Amino acid sequence: DKGPFRHFMLKEIHEQPEGLSRVIGTILDRPSMSLLPPPALPFRFSDLKQVSIVGCGTAYLAGATAKYWFERFARLPVQVEIASEMRYREPPLDPGELALFISQSGETADTLAALRYCRAADQHVIAVVNVPQSSIAREADVALPLMCGPEIGVASTKAFTAQLTVLLGLALQAARDRGTIEQERLDSLLEALCRLPAAISATLELDDELKGVSRVLARARNVLFLGRGLHYPIALEGALKLKEISYIHAEGYAAGELKHGPIALVEEAVPVVVLAPSDELSEKTFSNMQEVAARGAPVILVTDEAGRSAGTALGAHILTLPTTDPALSPIISAVAVQLLAYHTATQLGADVDQPRNLAKSVTVE
Ligand code: F6R
Repeated sequence: DKGPFRHFMLKEIHEQPEGLSRVIGTILDRPSMSLLPPPALPFRFSDLKQVSIVGCGTAYLAGATAKYWFERFARLPVQVEIASEMRYREPPLDPGELALFISQSGETADTLAALRYCRAADQHVIAVVNVPQSSIAREADVALPLMCGPEIGVASTKAFTAQLTVLLGLALQAARDRGTIEQERLDSLLEALCRLPAAISATLELDDELKGVSRVLARARNVLFLGRGLHYPIALEGALKLKEISYIHAEGYAAGELKHGPIALVEEAVPVVVLAPSDELSEKTFSNMQEVAARGAPVILVTDEAGRSAGTALGAHILTLPTTDPALSPIISAVAVQLLAYHTATQLGADVDQPRNLAKSVTVE
C-alpha cells in the first residue's frame, strides 16, 4: 500500500525519520544519552587489528561511508570490498578479525559467497540486514537488523540510511571499547544522533526545492556528482540512484580527482552536483566547485547554512540542508540525493519503482 504517495520509493524516502528513530533506539539509551551495549558479540573490538566491510551496490556504499567512521573514531583500518570482487580475488585473511556484510535483502548471491569465504578463514562475521530470516542473517554470527520495514522500491533508500546509522553505532561502540574517543566527543555525537530523525524530517520538507532543482538534471545527458571525505561515497550513491531510475548517465567522483580526468567532461551541458555540507574539507570542495563553475557547468550545491555563501557568488542552485554534526551529515545528504534522483526520474516519466533491467534481490551472480 503506497498510502498517499505516488510511488513506493517516495513512501520509503518519507519513512526514514520513523525507521531511523527505531534503529537509533537500539544504539542509544535516550534518557541517559549513553550507548547501549550491542547484542553479545563473539569478540572484543579492542582485540581487532582491521575490519572488512563487504556489500554490493548501495550496500557497498554504506560500507564505504562507514570506513571513515571506523578509521576516525575507532582507529581501526577498514577495507571496503565489492562482494563480487572479493569472492573471486580470494584475498589472504587473518583469522579472528571482523568482516561486516551489508545487505538489505540478505539474499545477494555475491555477498553470501563472500561471507562464506570469510567464515572459512575463521573471521567473525556480522551481518547488517533488513530481512531477519534471510540467508545472510542466518549464516552470520550476529545479525544486526535495519528495522526499517520492507523495502519495495527497487532503488534502495530507507535501507541505505538505516545501514549508515547501524554502522555509525558500531563504529562508536568500537571507539568506546578501544578507548579512542573522548567522552565529550562521544556525547556530542550521541546528541546529534538523537536529533537525526528530526533533521531528516526537515530535509524532507525541502521537497519542493529539490523538485525544482531536479529540472536542471532532467535536461541533461550526463551529470557529475562530487564529494570529499564522508561525502565521496554519497556522491557515488547520488550518481548510482540517478542512473538507475532516470537512465541519465551519472558519475560520482572524489572532488580531489576532478583534475585527474573528469574535468575534461565539464561544460555547459553537464550539471555538477557538489556535496559539501560544512566540515574541515568543505573549503577544498568549494575550490573544485569554482573550477567547474568557471567552465560554465550548472552547479547544484548541497550544503548547510554555513556553506551557503560559497555557492551564492557562483550563481549555483543551493540546497541548504539542516545543520548537524559533520560526522552525521552524509546521512542527511543521502536523503537529498534520493529526492533529486526521484524527481528527475518522475519528470522524465520513468517507472521509479521498477526500473528496467533491475531486480530487487540479486540472487544469481
Ligand atoms: C541500488 C540498489 C542496489 C542494491 C544491491 C545490494 O539502489 O538497490 O545497488 O543495494 O543490489 O542489494 P542488497 O542490499 O539486498 O544486498
